[in-house]
Amino acid sequence: MITQKSVQEILEAAKIEDIVEDFVNLKRRGVNYIGLCPFHNEKTPSFTVSPSKNICKCFGCGKGGDPVQFLRELENYSFVEALRYIAKKYNIKIEEKELTAEAVAEKQMYESLYLVNEYAKDFYHKQLMDTDAGKSIGLSYFKKRGYREATIKKFDLGYAPNAKDELTATAAKAGYNIELLRKLRLTNQYDGDFFRDRVMFTIHNLTGKVIAFAGRTLSKEKKIAKYVNSPETEIYIKNKVLYGAHLAKKSIRKEDECILVEGYTDVISLHQAGIENVVASSGTSLTEGQINLIKRYTPNIKILYDGDAAGIKAALRGLDLVLEQDMNVKVVLLPDGQDPDSYLEKLGASEFKTFIKEKAEDFILFKTNLLLADAGDDPIKRAQIIQDIVASISKVPDPIKRSVYVKECSRLVDVEEQALFDASNKIIAQTIAKRRQKRRFQKERAKQAPKGDPSFPSTPPPEYTGQDQLPPAIADRIQPVNITAAPDGDTFQEKDIVRILISGGTQVFDEEENITVAEYILSNMEDVLDSFQNSTYGKIVKEYHQALVKKKKIDHQYFLHHTEEDIRQIASDMLSTPYEYSPNWEEKLDLPLQTQKKPEENFTQDSISSLREFKKKKIKKMREEIAAKLKAAEESGDTTNSLKYLKLIMKLDATYNDLAGQTNTVVIK
Ligand code: CTP
Ligand code: MN
Repeated sequence: MITQKSVQEILEAAKIEDIVEDFVNLKRRGVNYIGLCPFHNEKTPSFTVSPSKNICKCFGCGKGGDPVQFLRELENYSFVEALRYIAKKYNIKIEEKELTAEAVAEKQMYESLYLVNEYAKDFYHKQLMDTDAGKSIGLSYFKKRGYREATIKKFDLGYAPNAKDELTATAAKAGYNIELLRKLRLTNQYDGDFFRDRVMFTIHNLTGKVIAFAGRTLSKEKKIAKYVNSPETEIYIKNKVLYGAHLAKKSIRKEDECILVEGYTDVISLHQAGIENVVASSGTSLTEGQINLIKRYTPNIKILYDGDAAGIKAALRGLDLVLEQDMNVKVVLLPDGQDPDSYLEKLGASEFKTFIKEKAEDFILFKTNLLLADAGDDPIKRAQIIQDIVASISKVPDPIKRSVYVKECSRLVDVEEQALFDASNKIIAQTIAKRRQKRRFQKERAKQAPKGDPSFPSTPPPEYTGQDQLPPAIADRIQPVNITAAPDGDTFQEKDIVRILISGGTQVFDEEENITVAEYILSNMEDVLDSFQNSTYGKIVKEYHQALVKKKKIDHQYFLHHTEEDIRQIASDMLSTPYEYSPNWEEKLDLPLQTQKKPEENFTQDSISSLREFKKKKIKKMREEIAAKLKAAEESGDTTNSLKYLKLIMKLDATYNDLAGQTNTVVIK
């Protein structure tokens, strides 16, 4: 454990501009620096670094923070990993507290395994680059495949010589413990090398540490396995590793998409061609551990399938797992007989990029089409397929997405929407029932548990709250409705509308149309006049509206002299507090105001954005309420209402997205 003193020292040393500079090209702008945001894709820089505050922030996506936060967010480091990064950068010696003997032993064991792997990696690489056999067999092979030297280095490619124990003997001579080499299976039981006469691929973990190897034979002999892989060890847990992830993670986050291929060579070729957000599952179908790895960086997966349909169907089944995780999956089917590597070579980089962009198909629809084509007219097969597809759809946690799929699939399989909904709801209901049963069982078990027996949970699982009776992924997506206190954010939007009405309602909104700010706002919110949460704000807005309907002109004087005390109070508050634009930005980052006009002169712009924010809030609230009703309807198997609520939610979403798309730069406090 790092001592508190050391932590302090490291934190004090960390300069935000130094740290960010490791990842972003920075240019000076006044007292700050500015560069392209590493968290999202952008063409004009909005990532700002403030040395005086020692923080960074992106004005596009909002990400940033102090040096440690920045590293944690960008590199997915833990707090300690971030500290180590900084310490290394500034040559700070880390002071550590004593660990227990066991912890020390374990840590040392891990560290020595990494060290031995690191040694082996260098050994194989040197063999490839510096020995006659390595150059003539291995290097020439990689070059023939089109790999540039920089790529070969970047991916730590190597060559294992055709010798009995070259690695083992050299490592032993260099002082490495043969026990560890055996443990990593670099050395076999006869003390000979495990990998022989193969070109070597190094497998890294997310932080770039060497955890395993794969060797590909260059022999055409059918009996020899094409690839040999390191067996699992303490540091190599296959189903949690994605080949290339350490080089891809940055780009995955930036592109907000992870491209998944099957082979090592696919990753390397695509990476070299500038498609860097790519990882390989290494021949197996995706595991949950691998999905979780990707999920840390993006919810979007694009899978490139080799053209031979053989393995595809089996792989498809495994993919329901991805749906359950609420990931968005797209599939690109390559022409028969091509893998990403060979097809890239055939098309060239830019055409290949266009191809995978244009040919990407949604996973469920892809699956539907593929299976249907296979079934032909056989009614029994068709029925099975429909069941299979509905099962996939039921895995999707988001009811909106689900309903879109039902619609699409209904068209594809030529079965009525309602029937598919019923089938899908039945599956969901079953899942819910199973969970309920499980929970009841656990509860019983907890009750029976003898006191003090640590193998039984001492407290029963949390009481049923309604929320978590749905499959967890679905439950997560449906927010409970907050019936009691009005959320602050909501009241804020209401306050903002009232502020504009009182302080600028009589101003001209649009000269040509000859309307005032109040007329603009109020005529655009007739549908939500009743949904104010703060009753005083609600009263003010309704009164203003009434006045306009009656063509009576009112202004701030009217409210300042109102008969009701709370309204008078609010009116005077609104008029006396100067309105500020996002003071946080200015204060924290020494940034100039984002708008040219002073806020109190900019009522037109202001009322547009305030109204929009207000409506967004209200729509969100309505959506929550309907989502709760939808949940109830789904749980009771009421398909007619489920469908009705779904449609309503989709409509709200569309309106919301419409509004959200119009965002401009006015930022309100
Ligand atoms: N694989 C494996 N063991 C094997 C065969 C394949 O682990 N015996 C894994 C490897 O990760 C390999 C991937 O499955 O990269 C895809 O296999 P394949 O398409 O046969 O190999 P490529 O990577 O395309 O290799 P190449 O292009 O050199 O033929
Ligand atoms: Mn290949």
